[in-house]
Amino acid sequence: MVTVTILVTGGAGFIGSNFIFYWMENHADDRVVCLDKLTYAGNLSTLEPVMDKPNFRFVKGDICDKNLVLDLFRTERPEYVVNFAAESHVDRSIDGPEVFLRTNILGTAALLDACREFGVGRYHQVSTDEVYGDLPLDRPDLFFTEDTPLHTSSPYSASKAGSDLLVLSYVRTYGLPATISRCSNNYGPYQFPEKFIPLMVINALNNKPLPVYGDGLNVRDWLHVKDHCRAIELILRNGRAGEIYNIGGHNEKRNIDVVKLILQELNKPESLIQYVADRKGHDRRYAIDPQKIHRELGWTPQTEFDDGIRRTVRWYVSSSDWWREIVSGEYQEYYRKTYGGI
Ligand code: NAD
Ligand code: DAU
Repeated sequence: MVTVTILVTGGAGFIGSNFIFYWMENHADDRVVCLDKLTYAGNLSTLEPVMDKPNFRFVKGDICDKNLVLDLFRTERPEYVVNFAAESHVDRSIDGPEVFLRTNILGTAALLDACREFGVGRYHQVSTDEVYGDLPLDRPDLFFTEDTPLHTSSPYSASKAGSDLLVLSYVRTYGLPATISRCSNNYGPYQFPEKFIPLMVINALNNKPLPVYGDGLNVRDWLHVKDHCRAIELILRNGRAGEIYNIGGHNEKRNIDVVKLILQELNKPESLIQYVADRKGHDRRYAIDPQKIHRELGWTPQTEFDDGIRRTVRWYVSSSDWWREIVSGEYQEYYRKTYGGI
């Protein structure tokens, strides 16, 4: 018996696909509908394990396509909508901001309007800690709380902050039952190889240089993707409409230390590390204060980083069929443009 229909946008990407697997494992009776445009970052092969299940439907389409979105809501009448669909890579936003504004802001608007027209139990916007800007390295006592002012650095984070504000405006103006989560850096299986951890693993496996931006001392607060998925479910079910929840696990690591850990795990030499020009506007440190989600919803991360990163490295080692397909074509062009000769 189907209990609930959940619409997951961006479900062919990294976190969205992990969320679909998580949901279908834990709620076998629910119907899951995935709407994804299959941009360079979306991979249908990732969803192969669920594609033939009777309670799963994949729809190829753009969240900015208002008519398609309205039709989908008309036929599926989702109870929950979780929006993962986005342009998500900071470096690409520095090269070309426009598509980020279109998908991340106008796409969110199209989903919100459909929710308003058909009514939903809950709309959830998957946002990021990058909307808070960054923290200095010499103030380890500072963390992002839900009240930290928005202070964006890149076109990507500005577009995410814009969509967050739009969601909050629909809560206040139309009474839409929506929530927002702002999560720190995720790691785990099925992450597109342009992102830091899979890029370093795959380059090391290929004995290619590992491009570390600037001095390598930037700090990110890493969270296993499964812990993020659990947090989103708790917010969907028990979070208060109109609220923002920060998600992070007090797991701050310097980039260079993560790279060294990966090399150690793969038994590769540190001579592969190559310092390259810094990212423009590069945020120095991210660090989430997760007290609100812990206090209100009882969430705490379950994956220890040392264990999670080892399992993740092993996953990329044994899933070369998945990433080899992806690192061909358009990605080669992007890589040449971003990393030049190395
Ligand atoms: P991703 O780039 O791996 O996947 C994005 C997915 O969205 C892809 O499948 C892509 O095809 C799809 N998509 C893009 N534009 C679309 C459009 N116009 N219509 C329909 N589908 C479209 O991203 P991710 O890392 O899985 O991130 C998912 C969400 O989580 C994003 O909103 C991102 O801002 C947020 N987030 C990511 C992280 C992280 O560490 N990766 C951390 C916090 C928040
Ligand atoms: O904090 C949440 C955010 O985390 C999400 O909102 C974004 O969607 C996600 O991409 C991620 O953003 P970052 O910019 O932190 O992630 P990225 O993997 O691009 O880079 C992580 C760190 O590694 C950052 O300090 C830049 C550095 N880096 C990255 C690349 C790709 C390098 O040193 N070399 C590289 O080649």
